[in-house]
Amino acid sequence: MRQHRLALCKEHYLEWMPEQTERFIKKYSMFTRDEKILVAVSGGKDSLALWDILARLGYHADGLYIGLGIDGGFGYSSESHRLAQRFADEHDLRLHVLDVEKEYGQPIPVLADITRRGRGRPCSVCGLTKRHVMNRIARDFGYAVLATGHNLDDEAAVLFSNTLNWQAEFLLRQGPVLPESPGFARKVKPLCRFYEREMTAYALLRGIEYIYEECPYAVGSKTTYYKELLNQLETERPGSKLTFYTRFLEARKSGLFAEQKDVQATLTPCPNCGQPTSAPGLCSFCRLIERAMNVGA
Ligand code: AMP
Ligand code: FES
Ligand code: ZN
Repeated sequence: MRQHRLALCKEHYLEWMPEQTERFIKKYSMFTRDEKILVAVSGGKDSLALWDILARLGYHADGLYIGLGIDGGFGYSSESHRLAQRFADEHDLRLHVLDVEKEYGQPIPVLADITRRGRGRPCSVCGLTKRHVMNRIARDFGYAVLATGHNLDDEAAVLFSNTLNWQAEFLLRQGPVLPESPGFARKVKPLCRFYEREMTAYALLRGIEYIYEECPYAVGSKTTYYKELLNQLETERPGSKLTFYTRFLEARKSGLFAEQKDVQATLTPCPNCGQPTSAPGLCSFCRLIERAMNVGA
């Protein structure tokens, strides 16, 4: 690991990873051993590795798999569901499963077609749906914390995008922890300081079976392009991604963006689902589902 000037054998690597994760959990005050954690597992390497690490560290961590109904010619959703369920069964862990089509009438690609914004590229409708479902399950089952498998490459790419556009309101909220607020569980990203290749190495060395393919809609996306750019930079200058991200966290802590108002203050509960929203009536997710039902009728 050039960026850390560190070389480890398999045995030590598999110890190093949970030790470091524990260090970040404490450093950023993510959660304690008394809190129930809901890990959002996609069937990919990061979230399965995260679940594995938290279980090894002795945290009370249950999983949530969201069936998005995406096929892409290779059964993306069904295969990722199978792998998430298999991991849960093998490790005797509890997995909640919510299938979007069964629950809300349509799979993600159809929901996306219904809105003009999502046609052809359903990622924003998918993101909206995933956030809604994660919040709902965390609230309904009393989880204090929701953990996702975002790694350093994910976070650096989002940071790059937000910085290119100077989206101060997003920059204010991006980080390892988003504190709880009325109607929302705390959100944490315990892997945010690990490189993607470090996560791949961990998953392979632990023998975790995960889905190699990305979501078919991610191919050619803006985030994928930013990741490639940052990888070029990292190759020339090892450690760049980590510095970019950690110096951002430090700069914000010392007051950069402090003048931005926190939008959370103006949220009210959605009259249908009860989740906080900045919209005057139904939240954007409930509006999406309402439109889907009208089209389907
Ligand atoms: P992505 O947006 O696909 O890069 O995923 C980021 C994180 O969101 C993953 O590491 C998971 O924690 C979570 N996630 C993504 N897709 C799903 C899914 N279908 N079900 C549950 N969690 C998911
Ligand atoms: Fe949601 Fe790809 S569109 S995971
Ligand atoms: Zn709603």
